[in-house]
Parts: sequence; structure tokens; C-alpha cells
Amino acid sequence: MGKIILTGDRPTGKLHVGHYVGSLRRRVELQNTGDFDEIYIMIADAQALTDNADNPEKVRQNIIEVALDYLSCGLDPEKSTLFIQSQVPQLCELSFYYMNLVTVSRLQRNPTVKSEIQMRNFEASIPVGFFTYPISQAADITAFKATTVPVGDDQLPMLEQTKEIVRKFNSVYGETLVEPEVLLPDNKACLRLPGIDGKAKMSKSLGNCIYLSEEPEEIKKKVFSMFTDPTHIRIEDPGKLEGNTVFTYLDAFCRPEYFAEFLPEYANLDELKAHYQRGGLGDMKVKRFLNNVLQAELEPIRKRREEYQKDIPYVYEILRKGSEKAERVAAQTLKDVKTAMKINYFEDEELIQSQVERFK
Ligand code: TRP
Repeated sequence: MGKIILTGDRPTGKLHVGHYVGSLRRRVELQNTGDFDEIYIMIADAQALTDNADNPEKVRQNIIEVALDYLSCGLDPEKSTLFIQSQVPQLCELSFYYMNLVTVSRLQRNPTVKSEIQMRNFEASIPVGFFTYPISQAADITAFKATTVPVGDDQLPMLEQTKEIVRKFNSVYGETLVEPEVLLPDNKACLRLPGIDGKAKMSKSLGNCIYLSEEPEEIKKKVFSMFTDPTHIRIEDPGKLEGNTVFTYLDAFCRPEYFAEFLPEYANLDELKAHYQRGGLGDMKVKRFLNNVLQAELEPIRKRREEYQKDIPYVYEILRKGSEKAERVAAQTLKDVKTAMKINYFEDEELIQSQVERFK
């Protein structure tokens, strides 16, 4: 059996550097190892609609933004299939059958769903579609027989739920679905990159994001306004690294060669950190370095985006072709599922013959 990746994002906004270090960068690396037989990257518009039902225009506008972000990070349509969830109707059909294998109380216990319900003030009026999106996510993953799902740790409960559905399906209907494995970022700083204000998570509503398509001047402004150590007032003061956003970003983005290029007084990040903790190293100097690092990391991404932006119809064409391929693959899985569930009446000669016998 081959190695297959499926992952995706909700198109509710442009992607930011948190998405990049948390998953996009890894996807591109995995793509370029050549270790995977198939890679599917899905723009989860149907899932985005589960909590944006009244705002379809927002979802529609952001499909192209996310597609541009994907391509500009280096996802290559020759190697990875980029597609739009709603254009693969088999996913809905699979979800409908999986719903029979999940209880309401199990969904209520899903920690991601729980916290999202709170965040959206849905407590008294949870849309059913939103409540059941972990089931639809199981359909996304299993439709492509994905073995590997690279995501951030906030998606762990979704993967747990998917595995349960797979096990339940296979035990009730016979070995049909593939149990996926989650692949988390290996760098701790990348697991949950904080916003520039030091708040737990980067989010559009908090206004604390650096976007992948951000202009150089904006990046600089945002880096220089970053939260550091509030007790590190004078340069001589010893500084703390914990909760210091500038150092968290360096952990996530810095490559060893950036020291030679931008900050040759230090051999590596450990030396820079040690000096900061000892005292005698000012925030401005560290921020200047981080700005150089981020500019170097984001420039090629922005340049590639500019190229793709010149040919938007081509980008839609990539998504259309990808969606057609995804549909073919999902249709095969759906067929396997329906056969296992004994709802393949017209393709089952034996069934028809046995009914002939029965009514003789
Ligand atoms: N829930 C994911 C997010 O919010 C998007 C998503 C939908 C997804 N289906 C998926 C991710 C399947 C991985 C696998 O970003």
C-alpha cells in the first residue's frame, strides 16, 4: 500500500506565518522528498461554511487567496493535487454513512469542537453541520485512503475521531478504510506560533498576524512592535526567553546560515539567547535580526505569489483539474464503502440471483 498525504485549510482568510511554520513548510518538504505516492491538499470550503453559513462571499473570496498562498510556498501542482472540498460530492455521501457510527455524546466530548463552540458563542444554537464537522473531516481523510495527515496539534482530536470511525467501520463492515497517522511539526515553537502580541494564537480577529503575502515594510513594523520580555527594560538587564515572542519566532524561522549573513558576532541562536539572558543585549538588536530573517524567508514566497497573481485563470484551472482528480479517487472509495455496506444493489449479481431463488 502506498503512502498518501491528505491535509487542508479552511478558506476564511489569507494564510499567515503560523500556518507556514505549523504546516505549509512541512508539506512542501514532504512533497519534495518524493517519499509519497500521492499528496492531496484540500481547500475546505464546505467546512468553512459550517460556521460561516451566512457569509458565503467570504469563503468564495478566500479560496483564491489560499490557493495563491499554497502555490507561493512551493506546493507544486505537478506533484500535489490541490482541490476544493465542495467540488467532491462523494465526501458528503461518505459523511452521511459515517454519521451512523458516531454518537452525539462522543462529538460533544471532542475538545476542539468544544472550544470552538465557546469561541463562537454557539452554546445555545449550535448548527448541526458545525457540530458534525469532525465526521466530515473523517470523510476527507478516508476518501483518499490517506496514511499521513500533517496538521497542527489543534487537529489531534479530529484525527482521533477519524481513527475511531475507521476502526468502527472496518469492524462492522469489514476491512475497507485506512487508519491514518498524524504528523505534527517537529519544532516546538512551530506547534503553536503566538501572535505578535504574544497572545496564545495568531488569529485574524485579534489582529496579531503576519501574513505570508505581507509587504516588507509591514513585516518590519510588525516585528518592531512585537511583545518581548516586559521586565527587560534597560539593555544591561537580564532578559527572559519564555513567552518572549521574538525568540519564539527565531526558534521557528532562524536557519544557522542567517548568523553569518546578518549577525556574524554570534555563532548561533544558543549564543544569542545566552547573551540575552545574561543581560547586555537590547531588544532592538534582536528585532533587527528577526526582521532580516523574516524578510529573507518571506521574500521568495511573496515573489512567487506575484507571478501567480498575474495569471489567476491558470490558478483556477489548477484547482479545477485537482478537483476532478480528487473526485475520481473519492468515487472509488465510495464504491468500496457502499459495497462493504451492502448498498451496491445493482452491481451485485449474486443478490439479484438470490432474490430470484427466494421468490420462486
Ligand atoms: N480542520 C482543518 C482546519 O481547520 C481543515 C481540514 C478539513 C482538514 N478537513 C481536513 C485538515 C482533513 C486535515 C485533514 O484547518
